[in-house]
Amino acid sequence: MARPFSLRMLGFCIGYYVLLCVASWVEADVKRYQFNVQVTNVSRLCHAKPIVTVNGMYPGPTIRAREGDRVVINVTNNAQYNMSIHWHGLKQYRNGWADGPAYITQCPIKTGSSYVYDFNVTGQRGTLWWHAHILWLRATVYGAIVILPPKGTPFPFPQPDREELVVFGEWWNEDVEEVVKQGNDLGLPPNMSDAHTINGKPGPLFPCYEKHTFAMEVEQGKTYLLRLINAALNDELFFAIAGHNMTVVEIDAVYTKPFSTHALLIAPGQTTNVLVRANQIPGRYFMAARPFVDVPIPIDNKTATAILQYKGVPDAIVPTLPSLPSPNDSAFALDYAHRLRSLNSGKYPATVPLKVDRKLFYTIGLGRNACPTCVNGTRLTASLNNISFVMPEVGLLQAHYFNRKGVYAADFPDKPPTAFNYTGAPVTANLRTARGTRLSRIPYNTTVELVLQDTNLLTVESHPFHLHGYNFFVMATGIGNFDPAKDPAKYNLVDPPERNTVGVPTGGWTAIRFRADNPGVWFLHCHLELHTGWGLKTAFVVEDGAKPDQKVIPPPKDLPPC
Ligand SMILES: *[C@@H]1O[C@H](CO)[C@@H](O)[C@H](O)[C@H]1NC(C)=O
Ligand SMILES: *[C@@H]1O[C@H](CO)[C@@H](O)[C@H](O)[C@H]1NC(C)=O
Ligand SMILES: *[C@@H]1O[C@H](CO)[C@@H](O)[C@H](O)[C@H]1NC(C)=O
Ligand SMILES: *[C@@H]1O[C@H](CO)[C@@H](O)[C@H](O)[C@H]1NC(C)=O
Ligand SMILES: *[C@@H]1O[C@H](CO)[C@@H](O)[C@H](O)[C@H]1NC(C)=O
Ligand SMILES: *[C@@H]1O[C@H](CO)[C@@H](O)[C@H](O)[C@H]1NC(C)=O
Ligand SMILES: *[C@@H]1O[C@H](CO)[C@@H](O)[C@H](O)[C@H]1NC(C)=O
Ligand SMILES: *[C@@H]1O[C@H](CO)[C@@H](O)[C@H](O)[C@H]1NC(C)=O
Ligand SMILES: *[C@@H]1O[C@H](CO)[C@@H](O)[C@H](O)[C@H]1NC(C)=O
Ligand SMILES: *[C@@H]1O[C@H](CO)[C@@H](O)[C@H](O)[C@H]1NC(C)=O
Ligand SMILES: *[C@@H]1O[C@H](CO)[C@@H](O)[C@H](O)[C@H]1NC(C)=O
Ligand SMILES: *[C@@H]1O[C@H](CO)[C@@H](O)[C@H](O)[C@H]1NC(C)=O
Repeated sequence: MARPFSLRMLGFCIGYYVLLCVASWVEADVKRYQFNVQVTNVSRLCHAKPIVTVNGMYPGPTIRAREGDRVVINVTNNAQYNMSIHWHGLKQYRNGWADGPAYITQCPIKTGSSYVYDFNVTGQRGTLWWHAHILWLRATVYGAIVILPPKGTPFPFPQPDREELVVFGEWWNEDVEEVVKQGNDLGLPPNMSDAHTINGKPGPLFPCYEKHTFAMEVEQGKTYLLRLINAALNDELFFAIAGHNMTVVEIDAVYTKPFSTHALLIAPGQTTNVLVRANQIPGRYFMAARPFVDVPIPIDNKTATAILQYKGVPDAIVPTLPSLPSPNDSAFALDYAHRLRSLNSGKYPATVPLKVDRKLFYTIGLGRNACPTCVNGTRLTASLNNISFVMPEVGLLQAHYFNRKGVYAADFPDKPPTAFNYTGAPVTANLRTARGTRLSRIPYNTTVELVLQDTNLLTVESHPFHLHGYNFFVMATGIGNFDPAKDPAKYNLVDPPERNTVGVPTGGWTAIRFRADNPGVWFLHCHLELHTGWGLKTAFVVEDGAKPDQKVIPPPKDLPPC
């Protein structure tokens, strides 16, 4: 194993004539993983089918590292699909080559080939996750990333007795790629999933659950850290544990001001760490996850369950379900979002940009473009500022780094082509969108404010937006049309939540800020896979800075060729 590339010394000295130093060296490790992408037979809901997995595991293996470590993952692709893996939430400073979205920062790893993702975990600690970033392969190709603080650094909250991963997903009985292909051919949303899952298991509300229920054993009086990850493709989820409150302490690998809640909301792409105290009458309590959807669109609204089981309690006891917010409870969703605050302590400050260099206003729209072979002659589409993103055939980061022309245009508009009443009565006529591979160019170290505005084009709907390469601050969220004259007064300039994925509420807006200090090409997209596929995405080209350590590092030799 390679020796540490960085050493930090924690220690203290005592002495009189002889100086005696007691030191402990905190070494940054190299954590190495082998990921074999392969096809594995898996059975759920009484349906067996071959799925794409990593190392035959569903969900896949957990990456464990400490802040400061180097992580080296050799991904070998033995599945029939060309694919890539994204390390969701890792900032990948100057190192977009290890970010993973196919055709944005790399070309896919071809069947039979390998690519080594090599990155440092710098200035981040908490729960993140990884997933395939091409087609809908992330339906089965996903897993957790656990980043512990450096050795000797405690959590800034009561130390839990034990921790547990709780990863939400979606299961289809049919081959997911076939399901998506059918939807695309028809120009309609593909069939919805057949179940939600917790750690790959749907739980007792589904058939054939005997082997497919996740149970977590707890001891009376102990405190547990639950690392929650929403790896579902299309559903924002409410989560609760019968009889137990949860204390939220971290979101998207950023510590928060702790607060207690009986339920929480987690969107696809987001993570949440909670403390749970086993302080109830010993028994069996359901943990449950069910979608939040506040518009009448068809989605899989089924409830996944797992069991919080006190030690020594017989399995025969039937657990009770928690009371989850009703599926359309927008008020709970908004209130929960407003309760999230960065910890903003001396050690973990919230470095909110107070002066903004560049203001961006992007509208989120759904639409229909002509498609002669589709149902009704149209195909559903989605856009930012009325542009449905067209995927390139070579990696955008390569095109940028090697100055290859003709791959993209850096002319993505800072505001929509026409202003209208974005959240008024639904617009159902002329829902066409423009198409293009258009990006926004941002000079190094620019402070950016981006307002994401939902629109009534076809229908309003909530959208979790994810930015690669950065965390951002969520300045404010509102319902209706963003008002640049009045709404900035609502901004939280002190301790706004810092995260990598944020919900834009149905018929509302969300304002985020970040400092563009990470050069590269960084994907911005709705984390509902349905909408990503329909074009609800673009990317920022963040230019190099003047100094050598402000430039994109050279690509690794094994970067997959296009
Ligand atoms: C998976 O199951 C199918 C059908 O049940 C079977 O033909 C195939 O050999 C199995 N593959 C593996 C790798 O077990
Ligand atoms: C990655 O794994 C493959 C398959 O095991 C192996 O052939 C290759 O040498 C590995 N690459 C590196 C850099 O270790
Ligand atoms: C994988 O990529 C290669 C080279 O670009 C291409 O020839 C092949 O058709 C792709 N395979 C699939 C399943 O798309
Ligand atoms: C990781 O950090 C080390 C030490 O600072 C540096 O030499 C190396 O280039 C970094 N790797 C990447 C991919 O940024
Ligand atoms: C989608 O659902 C319809 C209706 O249940 C069914 O006929 C069709 O076969 C499904 N498509 C796929 C790809 O499974
Ligand atoms: C959960 O919190 C609510 C509101 O603070 C409180 O009324 C309730 O008693 C708590 N429940 C438990 C089990 O601690
Ligand atoms: C779930 O959706 C179905 C229609 O798809 C509906 O009949 C049912 O009432 C919904 N259940 C809940 C809990 O909203
Ligand atoms: C939520 O759904 C319930 C049951 O379908 C309905 O009675 C209620 O009016 C809805 N609430 C809102 C705010 O739409
Ligand atoms: C087809 O178009 C009609 C009329 O615009 C509309 O009512 C219907 O929902 C459309 N069907 C589909 C499947 O989009
Ligand atoms: C936008 O539409 C909403 C709903 O129809 C309406 O209440 C509001 O007054 C409109 N705003 C403007 C500026 O026209
Ligand atoms: C979006 O672009 C299409 C194609 O240029 C155009 O027909 C449509 O009016 C535009 N819609 C909006 C809301 O700007
Ligand atoms: C970025 O700009 C700020 C002023 O807005 C400056 O204080 C800081 O030093 C700059 N950072 C770098 C890395 O250039």
